[in-house]
Amino acid sequence: MTDLASVDFFSDPALTQDPYAYFDYLREQNPVFRGLPHGVVAVTGYAEVMAAFKDHATYSAVNAIGGPFPPLPFTPDGDDITEQIEAHRHLFPIHEHMVVMDPPSHTKARSLLNKLLTPRRLKENEEFMWELVDHQIEEFIENGRCEFLSEYAKPFATSAIIDLLGVPAEDRPEFLAALGAERPDGNRVGALDGEPVGRDPLQYLDDKFVGYLAARRAHPRGDVLSGIATALYPDGSTPELIELAKPATFLFAAGQETVTKLLSAAVQVLGERPEYQQRLRENPGGIAAFIEEALRMHSPTKVDFRLVRRTTELGGVHLPAGAVVMLCLGAANRDPRKFDDPHEFRPERKNVREHIAFGRGIHSCAGAPLARVEGQITVRRMLDRMTDIRIDETVHGPTDRRNYEYEPTFLLRGLTELHIEFDRAP
Ligand code: HEM
Repeated sequence: MTDLASVDFFSDPALTQDPYAYFDYLREQNPVFRGLPHGVVAVTGYAEVMAAFKDHATYSAVNAIGGPFPPLPFTPDGDDITEQIEAHRHLFPIHEHMVVMDPPSHTKARSLLNKLLTPRRLKENEEFMWELVDHQIEEFIENGRCEFLSEYAKPFATSAIIDLLGVPAEDRPEFLAALGAERPDGNRVGALDGEPVGRDPLQYLDDKFVGYLAARRAHPRGDVLSGIATALYPDGSTPELIELAKPATFLFAAGQETVTKLLSAAVQVLGERPEYQQRLRENPGGIAAFIEEALRMHSPTKVDFRLVRRTTELGGVHLPAGAVVMLCLGAANRDPRKFDDPHEFRPERKNVREHIAFGRGIHSCAGAPLARVEGQITVRRMLDRMTDIRIDETVHGPTDRRNYEYEPTFLLRGLTELHIEFDRAP
């Protein structure tokens, strides 16, 4: 039995397998709890996480990905460390990506991304996904079983972004291979899950995209990449090619692992709770809420970080400038003050869409519409094409003694493997 009072959230393997009792423990101490290792303040209350997300003037995103790792490259001095943050920004992990930027740089970077993620582009991408889902299911449907992450979720999530960005058809196999979506253990991009990768896929992507964009700027072709290449900042100025490439390539880092985790969580529920299979087949309109509840219960981004820029108070707790706060999305989404019986999977709950699995405020997930559609289309087509989807007991054990393994990272929450069996729909 883990001693919750002395456990180290950042390194204890037991917590990566099940963080929820610990999150509840922290919230019971105080929804804003000082005293985690590395001086981290854990925020586990829904209202408190929301307040921090929305107050970007007080909470800098500069450490959003790394949190206390590596330690701050300076010693905080005084009640406003804005200047210190700016002087050391280049020393923070992935400082060139929008997720860790603050305004005004963040506003500029996000404006470029918004030009790509237009309603029209998202619609075209959704049309591609309807074909993709069947293509991916064809790969294994004859077998009556599959390992869902490697045979479906990873290649699906990667291909969806490759298409969103308009990568030319002839280059797509190379992208899939380079991003590891063809290998059963692949699909790791960058340092988002805190683990080093053998080489830097984001660098590969930057090089490829700068190449595409330079060619399109010289000779626009009316394709998606040409649209990106000719995008301007809101003030009419022309971005450098690398400034256009970064928001594009970051989508791979942000949207592959997270979506893989959402899809596998949703399919795990279908296998564990077979009653939902027939219910959703009869009422496909309920699939959207089913995905929202999967996001709430199994929030793929477990925690996110902020650095207190100006001395402040959160939930009545004093936070000095320089404090590292850990916004626990997985805990906020199970806060009983916000969600009744929070550990119960109930897609019919009235506030099912109020979870904060996609964050809130200026950094709220740019890919949320895409991720939602990916989840909905996947569940819809699996239910159309398969019946009696069940958990493979030879791998995961019988119903009363399941054995699931989760990724050993404190940042993200998701299965390492999900073996399912099914019958082919007539
Ligand atoms: C279920 C899947 C996903 C989850 C749970 C998720 C979660 C999140 C969260 C919590 C943030 C906020 C980070 C912060 O405030 O520090 C975020 C930001 C972001 N997400 Fe997602 N995401 C998902 C899928 C995607 C997809 C598919 C894409 C794109 C194709 C994407 C692109 C981004 C981008 C670009 C940002 C940064 C936005 C900014 O800094 O302004 N995400 N995501």
